[in-house]
Amino acid sequence: MKLWGGRFQKDTDAIVDDFNSSISFDKRLYKQDITGSIAHANMLGACGIISKSDADAIIEGLKNILDDIEAGNVEFDIAAEDIHMNVETLLIKKIGDVGKKLHTARSRNDQVALDLKMYCKEQINIIIDSLIKLENTLLNIAKEHKATIMPGFTHLQKAQAISLGHHILAYFQMFSRDITRLKDCYKRMDTMPLGSGALAGTTFPINRQMVADELNFTSLTLNSLDAVSDRDYVVELESAAAISMMHMSRLCEELIIWASDEYKFITMDDAYSTGSSIMPQKKNPDVAELIRGKTGRVYGNLMATLTMLKGIPLAYNKDMQEDKEAIFDTLDTWLACLDILEPMLCTMEINKANMYKSAGGGFTNATDLADYLVKKGIAFRDAHKIAGELVYKCISESKTLEQLSLEDYEATCP
Ligand code: ARG
Repeated sequence: MKLWGGRFQKDTDAIVDDFNSSISFDKRLYKQDITGSIAHANMLGACGIISKSDADAIIEGLKNILDDIEAGNVEFDIAAEDIHMNVETLLIKKIGDVGKKLHTARSRNDQVALDLKMYCKEQINIIIDSLIKLENTLLNIAKEHKATIMPGFTHLQKAQAISLGHHILAYFQMFSRDITRLKDCYKRMDTMPLGSGALAGTTFPINRQMVADELNFTSLTLNSLDAVSDRDYVVELESAAAISMMHMSRLCEELIIWASDEYKFITMDDAYSTGSSIMPQKKNPDVAELIRGKTGRVYGNLMATLTMLKGIPLAYNKDMQEDKEAIFDTLDTWLACLDILEPMLCTMEINKANMYKSAGGGFTNATDLADYLVKKGIAFRDAHKIAGELVYKCISESKTLEQLSLEDYEATCP
């Protein structure tokens, strides 16, 4: 019998149980679900909505279930639909009828919002730690290569000479912004939804602040319909992930180019490269390519969630259960990419001599030549033209600017 089975005359079809159920993926919310339920039961007892001894029995039971799950002793049941009803079913089995009082003044709609917010908040902190680790690695490379000269590019054409440190610190800025985006979205999701009930709040004299305090939320949601149907925090987090993946993907694209035989700016460590099943000589930057490739699924999850939400009338609708696989996959992918990119960067070898040699080609000093003429009193637009003519002369004579003689320069511009 389902926890909600009272008004039904027959069982749901097995294929509906299967289709409707989210336990296969929302089981990862077990800790948040139980911790949230403990805070809820504690509050129900403190407010006299259930007796103190009932609250204590429920809390004790929930703690034991948490231990059972962590010890691997729990088989979740598809027929119990989701993590919320699985935990409640386990509780009733463990402590008997008193367990049936836990869901007083609560709905799965405010419960799932609570669980998912708690989960996202925890994940944000984990991802920030990984981003900081990545930033530190970038800083170390930049410090070591303050004076390593390489060509800077625009349009993938050599543009001006820069230092590798300068180039690497550009990525440092991107990942710093990712961190601020995460902190910002954390702040906005840090509102406690319990008390919203299914949509219309509750008739019981609950104490929402008490629950918020116990669960470390800074404030309370203010509208019950919004609180149960808001998934902005999922969309924001998925957006932050999409942007951060885009940053990683761009960096990986550069590494792939730099590792190619044409560039040879870097050599990937063997431990972060893979071979070919047919071509014995190959050493491929598969890890960087996979990070670049996985960016697509993270974008896809964002689009899936936005599209899932766009037609939903207030308040909760079951469509919203689709938020979970998207956000879980996004967070898993993001973290996995961050955690493999960092050691890959640490271990790659930087071929300074090749970078230096490459910076000497492509007339990367042409802008400096124009600037020199400006400092001698020539207007920049004229200086640009003179430098351009000298570049053309070099191209026709297969020379570099530094190989031209003073006479050559004076012939173009006295
Ligand atoms: N498993 C559901 C979800 O993830 C929990 C909320 C279900 N609420 C409901 N009224 N059916 O969205």
